[in-house]
Amino acid sequence: MIAPSLLSADFARLADEADAVTGPPGEGADWLHVDVMDAHFVPNLTLGLPVVQSLLRATVVPIDCHLMIDDPDRWAIGYAEAGAYNVTVHVEAARDPVALARDLRAAGAKAGLSVKPGTPLEPHLETLRHYDTLLVMSVEPGFGGQSFMPEVLDKVRAVRRMVDTGHLRLLVEIDGGINADTIEAAAEAGVDCFVAGSAVYGAEDPGRAVRALRRKVLEATPDRGWSL
Ligand code: DX5
Ligand code: ZN
Repeated sequence: MIAPSLLSADFARLADEADAVTGPPGEGADWLHVDVMDAHFVPNLTLGLPVVQSLLRATVVPIDCHLMIDDPDRWAIGYAEAGAYNVTVHVEAARDPVALARDLRAAGAKAGLSVKPGTPLEPHLETLRHYDTLLVMSVEPGFGGQSFMPEVLDKVRAVRRMVDTGHLRLLVEIDGGINADTIEAAAEAGVDCFVAGSAVYGAEDPGRAVRALRRKVLEATPDRGWSL
C-alpha cells in the first residue's frame, strides 16, 4: 500500500491535494497519511481534529492519522470517533498503550503504534499484540524531506518474521525518506505500507509519483503475492 503524506501538500488546498492521488485500487493512494503534530512531542505544529474532520468529508480515501503528540491517551480517541481508518500513536508518548488500542478499536478504527528510529521493539512486543499496524519511523519525526535511515530496516525485518511466523498480526508501515531510491530496500525488508510525503507532493504529478512508487515495490518483491 502507498500512503501519501499530506505534510508535503499545500495546506490551503487539502481537498484538491487528496484528489490528486485518488484513483482506482492498485493505482491511486491506498491511505492518506495525515501528520498531527503538537509542538511538544515534536518541534513542529501542523493540524488537528477539525481539519481531519473536514478532510474526512472531502475524500473517499481512508485516512491514516499519525499522531506525533503528547498525551495521546487523551486525544487519540477523537480521531477514531471522527472516522479515521487508522489512528497511530507513539509508544514513547502513550501512558497505557494497551488500553488506548482497545479504545481506538472500540471506536471503529484500526489501532497503530509508532516507534521513533532509536526506540527498540523488544520491550513492546506484548503491547504490539493489541495493535493492527506498526509504524516504523525512518527519520526523526517532525519534518518532511529528511534522509532515510536504513538502519531501521532491522526492526522491519524482525517484525516481518514475527508476522510471517504467526507470532504477531499487524501491517508494517514505514514513514520518512521514502522515495524512488529507498522504497525497494524497504519493500525487500518486509514493509506493507509505504508513507511518502515529499516524494509524492514534491513531484510535478503526485498521481504519477504514487504509481511509480507502487511499481518499484511490485518489481522489488515479486514473490510477496500482493493483492491489489
Ligand atoms: C515526519 C512525518 C512524515 C513525513 C514524511 O515526521 O511523520 O509522514 O510527511 O515526509 P517525507 O516522505 O518527505 O520524508
Ligand atoms: Zn507521518
